[in-house]
Amino acid sequence: MKRMVRTVQELSAEEKLRLICGKDFWHTDDLGGKIPQITVADGPSGLRIVKERAEDGSETAYPAAAYPAISLLANTWNRAAAAEMGECLADECLEKDVDILLAPGVNIKRHPLNGRNFEYFSEDPVLAGEMAKAYIGGLQGGGVGACLKHFCCNNLEYDRLNQSSEVDERTLRELYYLPFEIACQAQPVSLMCSYNRINGTFGAEYAKGFALLRGEFGFRGAIVSDWSAVRDRTASAAAGLDLEMPFNGENYRKLCEDYRRGALSDAALDACAQRVLDLVYRCKEMRQGKKPARTDKERRAAARRIAAEGMVLLKNNGVLPLQAGGSAALSGCYARPDSCGMLRGGGSSAVNRGEEKFDLPARLAERGTEARYEGAFRFDEVESFGQSARRAALLAAECDCSIVCVGLGEKFEREGADRETARLPAVQERAILESAKSNPNTVVVVFAGSYIDMSAWEEKAAAILFAGYPGTGGDDALADILVGKVNPSGKLSETFPRCLADVPAADGRCVSAGVTRYTEGLGVGYRCFSTNDVPVLFPFGHGLSYSVFAYSDLSASAEGGALHISFAVENASERSGAETVQVYVRECVPLVSRPDRELKDFAKAEIAAGKRKRFSFSLGQRAFAHWSASKDCWEVSDGVYEVLIGSSAQDIRLRCKLCIKNGEILLR
Ligand code: GLC
Repeated sequence: MKRMVRTVQELSAEEKLRLICGKDFWHTDDLGGKIPQITVADGPSGLRIVKERAEDGSETAYPAAAYPAISLLANTWNRAAAAEMGECLADECLEKDVDILLAPGVNIKRHPLNGRNFEYFSEDPVLAGEMAKAYIGGLQGGGVGACLKHFCCNNLEYDRLNQSSEVDERTLRELYYLPFEIACQAQPVSLMCSYNRINGTFGAEYAKGFALLRGEFGFRGAIVSDWSAVRDRTASAAAGLDLEMPFNGENYRKLCEDYRRGALSDAALDACAQRVLDLVYRCKEMRQGKKPARTDKERRAAARRIAAEGMVLLKNNGVLPLQAGGSAALSGCYARPDSCGMLRGGGSSAVNRGEEKFDLPARLAERGTEARYEGAFRFDEVESFGQSARRAALLAAECDCSIVCVGLGEKFEREGADRETARLPAVQERAILESAKSNPNTVVVVFAGSYIDMSAWEEKAAAILFAGYPGTGGDDALADILVGKVNPSGKLSETFPRCLADVPAADGRCVSAGVTRYTEGLGVGYRCFSTNDVPVLFPFGHGLSYSVFAYSDLSASAEGGALHISFAVENASERSGAETVQVYVRECVPLVSRPDRELKDFAKAEIAAGKRKRFSFSLGQRAFAHWSASKDCWEVSDGVYEVLIGSSAQDIRLRCKLCIKNGEILLR
């Protein structure tokens, strides 16, 4: 076999220049066979390998297994589920010779209307970082490289290629950098810059951020541009961006010209070229000898299981689970969508599910429910509403319960544009209200990738199940929860506020020319609502079960500068169920402004009926620290702190206080 080049010293300047600019849309250059070539592909919830690209830029992808949207995965709060999804995606990539999957995205859900929120984990950096870290571990453990994205502050699609996110250093450190810092512990082989500017500097030229990744966060991979995010290849290479994707002839020509006139140093060029070389070999070594660990059938079963685990029971007056053998009127086109685009977000993460169908009526019938389906409304058409809504209402009146399936889909949630409203289309809200008039046992199933303003109808619903964007097998997953075969255990990874006006970022959206000022600072999600006692519709971390969990017996000890806590959770019901416990920290009398509580850890476990399980956590000094803007470092102030153990950010079950003095923890 031809000897391959492994160091830049063996390459000419021309070869190095060629190496740091992709070969085409989805491949690196192999320098005429001197080095291996790697293939990259989207996306976080399934393989999107482009079959053809039309003149207008629209793309057709090959059919592939669709996994739950990242937002639905986040709602599992289960690191093992994230790892398993990563492992399954690795198998998909191995079978299709993809070396790097362009995932996961960890951008913070600062604004509920961000068009890509469905593709991100959370409003909270610890939940986002920990789930991404597990996902990367599963993906790379399966032999395929990850590409952690988009670094950073890409929190709106509005003017994403140009606008500058203006964020203070402390907010960057404690909120926007933190998911990347945590996820980098999994050593992703690559990381993707964002399109936008950060405090005026384009993500592709963000030298300060790249130095932080490599210096403090220990990132040892290659930094890749977002697609066509590079404006000046010389400036981006000098900043430390290693690989431009896709190949851009004009950028490459200018890069060579700049190099020839000395505008790019050999040191900078060598650094980028070596990291691309290392990337290529790391990917090849990572997949050496790897074979798919699961069959396609096993992977689809995993997708279904993860979807069921991520669906969130927001409200339930007891109508769920459905009575065995009972009758249910189903309405709303999401129950049997005629396009998979209604059950996913749009853009580069959209997976082509081929001929696969989603059919809730059929799945419920298979489970013994007399499911009577009235298509009723299309997702956003009003004119057809009248007669079909009337039929749906009559049907609802005749059945034990009425299940109204509503939602968004790629028409409303997609890359490249933000949502226009937090509410459902009027026709859908109307259908819910009509159903509730006909049958008080109205169950609303919501298919969406992010916050929905439910204020117009929430009180009329007997139960609300947030089904997210499930992938393959989503109809089975949903039916299992509705009939009680699966006990729901999902919890919200973003707050559902009462209304958009309560969200500080919401009024900063339309900004001065090209600048989005993050004036809310750390006031994102529950950090804002808990601190300011703003009531919310459903809090961060909220999710009901068919079981009841009781927390007790909190014990705490301090050793080696860390706090060690443990407590018991009892399943006080007759059926097994899973509970996610959340550990928040609060500084009681802070000398700087601090959120009222900050998530520091979480864990999920299945607890058999009537049994107890003990959870244990250790919190090191960093768990109590804030970023000191005056000292440019993490600082733990002397003072009194409180640890809050919650079933959600607002449902605090246990708490304990402690003092910290000169880094020593003293229990009160
Ligand atoms: C897109 C996205 C990025 C994706 C890439 C390749 O514009 O921002 O997430 O991986 O281009 O499709």
